[in-house]
Amino acid sequence: MKIAVLGYGTVGAGVVDVLTMNKGSITKRIGTEIDVKYVLDLRDFPGTIVENIVTHDIEDILNDPEVEIVVETMGGLKPAYEFTKRALSADKNVCTSNKELVAEHGVELCQIAAEHNVNYMFEASCGGGIPIIRALNTSLRQDEILEISGILNGTTNYIMTSMYDNGETFKEALKEAQEKGYAELHPEADLEGHDAQRKIAILSSLAYGHHLDYKKVPTEGIDQIRIQDIQYAKAMNMKIKLLATSQVAEEGTWAMVSPRLVDDQNILYHVDGVMNAVFVKGNALGDAMFYGSGAGSLPTASAVCADVLDCAQHPHETLKTDITAEPLAQMPTDQVKN
Ligand code: HSE
Repeated sequence: MKIAVLGYGTVGAGVVDVLTMNKGSITKRIGTEIDVKYVLDLRDFPGTIVENIVTHDIEDILNDPEVEIVVETMGGLKPAYEFTKRALSADKNVCTSNKELVAEHGVELCQIAAEHNVNYMFEASCGGGIPIIRALNTSLRQDEILEISGILNGTTNYIMTSMYDNGETFKEALKEAQEKGYAELHPEADLEGHDAQRKIAILSSLAYGHHLDYKKVPTEGIDQIRIQDIQYAKAMNMKIKLLATSQVAEEGTWAMVSPRLVDDQNILYHVDGVMNAVFVKGNALGDAMFYGSGAGSLPTASAVCADVLDCAQHPHETLKTDITAEPLAQMPTDQVKN
């Protein structure tokens, strides 16, 4: 099975690394060898394992019938949206970590995939390496989901943990998060809460079976949090966490992203650094918690590869990852509690 990777940044390089590092065990498990035939990037990578497979032309990939799976790890909308549409329309499966694209155009891209009998998969779009989308689409399908909430952004959690534990300044901690490959290219998306806003919208859409438009989720980030706020929280045995929440209520479903104080009795108090945690409440299941690395090259790549393996095994058997277009009945924004 030949695949192409669009974008050889932190996650794209991680995908190539995971597929190379685990080639033997993957081939044994799925009975098919997965080969990366192309890496699309504006740059060249001389002296690396991809130096001979780099292309600068998307047409090489789209016109190659051998390529059955395209991994989109470019991030952003342009040109990822166009390339994804064209790849799906050329009957290729697409696996992505691009939450911006899934939140903005996921409904349409799932429809195009279904029309072409291929898959559009996005496990890596939420919670880094945590298999939360798979869980919602498989193990939790029988439940009515009543709530999803948690820490969905690794960068901001890393920053606030470093400020709390080591007394680092916001700037120092952000620089470290960028160096470790956690932050977005434009870290404002992390800091202002928009990354978590997109993720809670994607998860809610899957969980409740209706589309939640991310733009309708009231959002506040951590960009106004100062070291004094962290110190006050500490003095009260509390921590500040950027929480993303959605909950089914009688008046409609409400969702929001904002920094909140959590005390040491709350399990999220102990979720530190780049770790993410997603709490799910089901009407039969009760409470469940998913915990793991929320960002970073290999954890995120691991989630992308889970999708690649599913597509390799079922290239033309549409897997249940679609976001329906039918809108979610939301509680009026002015009633959302803060
Ligand atoms: N910037 C994101 C985060 C990357 O920090 O969580 C993973 O989606």
